Amino acid sequence: MSDAVKLALVDYCALIIIDAPPVNALSVAVRRGIFESVQAANADAAVRTIVMTCAGRTFIAGADITEFGKPPQPPALNEVITAIESCSKPVIAAIHGTALGGGLELALGCHFRVAVKDAKLGLPEVKLGLLPGAGGTQRLPRAVGPEFGVRMIVTGEPIGAPEALDHGLIDEIVESQADGAIAFARKLVAEQRPLLLLRNDDSKLVAAKADRSLFAAAAAAATKKNRGLNAPLACAEAVSWTLDTPFDEALKKEREAFLKLVADDQAKAQRHAFFAEREAVKVRDVADGVKPRPVGRVAIIGAGTMGGGIAMSFANAGIPVTLIETGEEQLTRGLGTMRKNWDATAARGGIPADEPAKRMALIDGKVGLENVRDADLVIEAVFETMAIKKAVFTAIDANARPGAVLATNTSYLDINEIAAVTRRPQDVLGMHFFSPANIMKLCEVVRAKQTAPDALLTATTLAKRIGKTPVVVGVCHGFVGNRMLAVRGLQGEALLKSGALPEEVDAVLTRFGFSMGPFAMGDLAGLDIGWRSRQDRGIRWDIADAICEAGRLGQKTSKGYYRYEPGSRAPIPDPKVEQLIDATCKRLGLTRRTIGDQEILERMIYPMINEGARILEEKIAARPGDIDVIWLYGYGWPIHRGGPMFYADLVGLRTIVERLEFYARSLNEPALKPTALLGRLADEGATFASLNTEKTRG
Ligand code: 3HC
Ligand code: NAI
Repeated sequence: MSDAVKLALVDYCALIIIDAPPVNALSVAVRRGIFESVQAANADAAVRTIVMTCAGRTFIAGADITEFGKPPQPPALNEVITAIESCSKPVIAAIHGTALGGGLELALGCHFRVAVKDAKLGLPEVKLGLLPGAGGTQRLPRAVGPEFGVRMIVTGEPIGAPEALDHGLIDEIVESQADGAIAFARKLVAEQRPLLLLRNDDSKLVAAKADRSLFAAAAAAATKKNRGLNAPLACAEAVSWTLDTPFDEALKKEREAFLKLVADDQAKAQRHAFFAEREAVKVRDVADGVKPRPVGRVAIIGAGTMGGGIAMSFANAGIPVTLIETGEEQLTRGLGTMRKNWDATAARGGIPADEPAKRMALIDGKVGLENVRDADLVIEAVFETMAIKKAVFTAIDANARPGAVLATNTSYLDINEIAAVTRRPQDVLGMHFFSPANIMKLCEVVRAKQTAPDALLTATTLAKRIGKTPVVVGVCHGFVGNRMLAVRGLQGEALLKSGALPEEVDAVLTRFGFSMGPFAMGDLAGLDIGWRSRQDRGIRWDIADAICEAGRLGQKTSKGYYRYEPGSRAPIPDPKVEQLIDATCKRLGLTRRTIGDQEILERMIYPMINEGARILEEKIAARPGDIDVIWLYGYGWPIHRGGPMFYADLVGLRTIVERLEFYARSLNEPALKPTALLGRLADEGATFASLNTEKTRG
């Protein structure tokens, strides 16, 4: 037997214990161990029942994702499940933690399933660009019905044990998995319950087989929000086979569909995103033994758009917050917005009805910066003006307790300069949240020159505690995300001058997979923010400025790059914008031409990739994957395209270099020339993925 799987006998029950940390994934060793254990237990005359359980924090969390793309090694998961189904003795899955993907598929092959109350069960393959490939698309609908099944498989969202019991996915909720399952097994024997195999049970399919419209409606609803992704549609189609295809034939088709998906670029991109996210949260260049500082209370300064959302994120995680404003009026307004947001979530059923009051009770609203004194972490979210930030940090420094970590949520400002006004620059860093801060997962944790390693670790640990994905970056104008966004913004402006229209640019990017194009997004956010920032920095963008000067500030003025009908947020292309662009270009002596979609895509995306390479050269980001995570979780980069640096590798760095050189030449834009790093990698035939940079600088 393998080390990963052990077999023990308790009374007449064979316990198969899977022990493969961290998440008991179904590696070849685990599959082999289960396969051999099941056969041994079945053959052993002293065994009457078989319980499959896991050591550690969770039941099997799925196939071993690191094995995807490598030559398959026997036994396949389907063979393991067939071995279970062939047992003449009842096999019971004893679930704790999360039974996910192949783990749940294995459990669905067992005759019975029991779970502890806080266990979760799901088929999240779709989130990796896949469909369940070991019978999940056929057995889950037989357990829970095809309508609920298709929803679970297409969304990939797990359900809790009580809901699983209601839907027939498990047979019983038990106190503790192994003991509970053994007791359940005794009961089975005493009651002489027949062995149940989902493959033979079509009872929950009868209604949907008689009236296909039921299933069609559920499948359509589940796949509605799918933007160019292959996997959700493949999942829904595979579930539909439960209604018209014999079980074994459907399994074969499922396998073929799985193999097709696993090899395509979308699944590769989603696997990359899975591992890049887990890699990004690891701060590598902090010495072993450095510990985060304990944080019991957080002070947030400013109860505006960001401060309010950040405070909500902490309260959502049960962490007490002191929320500080300049006056009662601002405080009341800020607290009121938070309450309204939570009430709306409760009204939608997102949180229990008593939660808004409980969460508000964690927020202590105060006027005056002396109130930072009880906090272990202070996050400043006041106006984006250096003088104000410096005044606020001077006051924080005077009042905060020694050892408190002092963070700024600035979008662009120099954190070294802010840190320098304090007597403790080692405690100062950036925590750059994204709007709406209670929803968005990304937090750029900005390491300044003198930031102490344990202060950095405090920020990343806390960000994780409140459900964010922290990515450590260095100090520069706009850090990683906004710096690359600015490059894209500039290219959008240049494309309008060349002849493209806002709606053409947006259409290309939404087809690429963004939920909104940059011009529609600008209208939503308000065009005056960028306009003011350009004025402050003495920069002129001819077309963007002309749009603003015409009083077109975006949705709030019902017109920007588009026009808007009263009460509607739907952008409508506006001939007046084209006239404005034309007039501006005439004034500048520019001739506009028709621009093709490919040129739009290349000019919007490749310069961003080039900037990403520059960010790596400057060690502002530690790894290409970190940049991808920032764009995936902060800027809506489509998940099936893996992030800008992953996408660059897919396109091929040689192609990107050639196209950048072409545009730099033909548009007379030296700034578009490929960076040294990009050029070198292309010359070597290498990829960003091959880079192994680990350090960021302050
Ligand atoms: N295969 C390989 N490694 C895995 C893994 C998997 N299925 N799931 C998690 N890991 C690794 C992570 O990479 C991480 O490694 P690291 O410590 O070296 O970074 C470690 O396990 C711990 O993972 P998390 O940091 O995510 O731990 P959490 O406790 O936050 O979450 C979890 C645990 C909920 C199980 C989460 O890891 C998860 O959602 N895993 C993926 C589950 C999944 O997608 N399963 C389906 C796989 S596809 C499949 O089964 C195909 C089948 O149909 C044939
Ligand atoms: P906001 O204008 O909505 O809120 C700022 C709040 O700070 C106001 O309520 C104001 O009364 C308060 N304030 C000002 N001076 C103060 C002081 N001395 N003490 C206490 N409170 C004070 O601004 P917003 O949008 O929340 O931005 C805040 C910071 O977050 C800025 O640095 C901004 O660049 C950054 N940011 C903004 C994002 C956004 O999308 N709005 C995204 C990420 C970062």
